[in-house]
Amino acid sequence: MSQPIPLLIPDIPNQAAIQPYLLQIDANRHYSNFGPLVKSLETRLTASFQQHAANPIHVTTVSSATLGLELTLSALNLPKGSRILVPALTFVATLTAIIRTGHIPVISDIDEDSWLLTPEIAQTVLKEKKIQAAIAVATFGHPQDTLSWSKFQKASGVKVIIDAASAFGSQWATATDIPIVFSMHATKSLTAGEGGFVVSGNAKLNNLIRQLSNFGINLDTHSGHPIGYISHIGTNAKLSEYHAAVAHASLDTWEYVAKKRTEMFHQYQHKLKELCGNAVILQSGQPTSAPTTLSIRVGSSQVRNAIEAICAQRNIATRRWYQPLLHHHSARIKPMEVFSCTFAERIATDMLGLPFSTFLGDEDLNRIATAVKDGLETQF
Ligand SMILES: Cc1ncc(COP(=O)(O)O)c(C=O)c1O
Repeated sequence: MSQPIPLLIPDIPNQAAIQPYLLQIDANRHYSNFGPLVKSLETRLTASFQQHAANPIHVTTVSSATLGLELTLSALNLPKGSRILVPALTFVATLTAIIRTGHIPVISDIDEDSWLLTPEIAQTVLKEKKIQAAIAVATFGHPQDTLSWSKFQKASGVKVIIDAASAFGSQWATATDIPIVFSMHATKSLTAGEGGFVVSGNAKLNNLIRQLSNFGINLDTHSGHPIGYISHIGTNAKLSEYHAAVAHASLDTWEYVAKKRTEMFHQYQHKLKELCGNAVILQSGQPTSAPTTLSIRVGSSQVRNAIEAICAQRNIATRRWYQPLLHHHSARIKPMEVFSCTFAERIATDMLGLPFSTFLGDEDLNRIATAVKDGLETQF
């Protein structure tokens, strides 16, 4: 049997790269609760987002993007049972965050080429259904257009959040009135092992998210509430100093890792094109700065099944990323409303995730592209 090709291999800073930050923790004796490494990480991230925004940017770290989404939804203070638009093709955390904060997900379609929920699609839904908020996902790291979403938000009164879990380096907060949530999970290009952060131009919102991440305890002397009392129901979603140490080390080499990821993506694209021609379709739109996954469309469910079977035989891992679509999980997942999802359903029939990591060699790419080609040829 040939060597296995795993779906993903995380590219995380090694012990030597993390060591200087661990020594700082030892010296500081501060391990969590908004310590010096968390603060300096937020400062570094703010500086990078500030380069792409005209208004002041605020960054608040959290223990995961999932909790970042939940706390951002809570901080928006929407009436309980608000209807929140969410694309059918996304990770389940986008959905669970809505239900766990007491709201009703309204599952929507995506654009056939970019695979994104767009303001135009949200506008179509609004003509037939009342919604109070929308979570636009930067699917597979492809950025959302914050300026268009900001226009939509202003015109409709619908609050917009961007779930940019895997889009660090591609998704910027150009329009600062749209909060954006990022993940620093082990599989992401900027990683803390586990972690996340929320970026927005709204200091009040970010302060509230920070308070909610610390059980809801008020630490703000200007808030009008007594210090140490809870004034909101929060949770524990603080990023520890140890996770911040990994994130700092990851940020130190981010440009280098992003370049490696981009080069790998281009090599992959060329190899697929060389062996499969135009039979393989990739997500359209702006290329991502640091891809972490690679999904293709192959024309039909039969061809996808054939490619999956061939890959399994040849020890090549594959995954139908973000499937089943949100509304095809269990009937127990309630409440939920579903709008027309024509393109999402179509994409879900023939989309397949191939192995992607910075550790793939030429021979691996050749084996994967050959398996895809052989699968495509079963249709003739
Ligand atoms: C679109 C999307 N949202 C949310 C998450 C959850 O991120 P985390 O693992 O940091 O909670 C992910 C994870 O991959 C994701 O892809």
